[in-house]
Amino acid sequence: MRLDRFLSNLPQFSRADARLLLASGRIRVDGTAVRDGRCEVREFSRIELDDQLLQAGKPARFFMLHKPVGVVSATEHPEHRTVLDLLDEPDKHELHIAGRLDLNTSGLLLLTNDGLWSRRLTEPRSRLGKVYRVRTEQPISAEYIEVFARGLYFAYEDLTTLPAELQILDSHSALLTLHEGRYHQVKRMFGHFQNKVLALHRERMGPLQLDPSLAPGAYRALSAEEAALV
Ligand code: URA
Repeated sequence: MRLDRFLSNLPQFSRADARLLLASGRIRVDGTAVRDGRCEVREFSRIELDDQLLQAGKPARFFMLHKPVGVVSATEHPEHRTVLDLLDEPDKHELHIAGRLDLNTSGLLLLTNDGLWSRRLTEPRSRLGKVYRVRTEQPISAEYIEVFARGLYFAYEDLTTLPAELQILDSHSALLTLHEGRYHQVKRMFGHFQNKVLALHRERMGPLQLDPSLAPGAYRALSAEEAALV
C-alpha cells in the first residue's frame, strides 16, 4: 500500500494531515525519513511519526526445509503428514510454500510469510533457475538436451515450456534446470520420451541451494543475507 494511503487510513489522520506530515519529513519508514507518499509500505514496514510508533512491522520469516519423500507440500492434509508438521515454529500457519514439490519428490522447499518474496522466487517472469536431480527408468539420450532446450508443448495448459537446461550425469541420471514450475513438469518432460522418473530431488531455487547439512525432514531459518538474495 502507498504510504499516503496508509496514513490517511489511520483514524487519527485525514488525507490533508497525511500530506502535511509527509511534507514535514516527520514520517520514518524502517528508520528513514520519507516525504514521498507514493512510497510503498507493507505489513513488514516499521512506520513512525516522530517518536510515535504507527506500525511495528511484523517480522518477515523465511525457512529452508529438506522435504523428505512422503510428506505433502501443503499446510493441511487429511491423510499425509504435511511440511508444516515438520516445523516447530510459533504461528507456523502464517507461512506458505514458495514452490511446491510432489509427494514423492524430495529436496529444497522454502516457506515464508512474505508473499512478494515467494512470488519473485516462483513466477516464470523472474526466470530463476530451479535445479532438479533426476533418476529415470530408461537411459537418457543426448536428444533430450535439445528437446528440453526448445521447450515442450503441454496441451492441457496450451503452452510451450520455457527453455530448460539438461546436464546428463550418467546413463540414468541428470540435472535439469527449469525456469518455471508447471504441474508435474519434470515428470511430464521425461514422460515425453516415455521415460519414467524414479527419483526427483530439488537442489536449488535461484540463488538458494539446499544446505547439505540438513537431513531429510530438517529445516533452518534463512539468514537475512540469504533472504535478500531473492
Ligand atoms: N516437477 C515434478 O514433476 N515434480 C515436482 O515435484 C517438481 C517438479
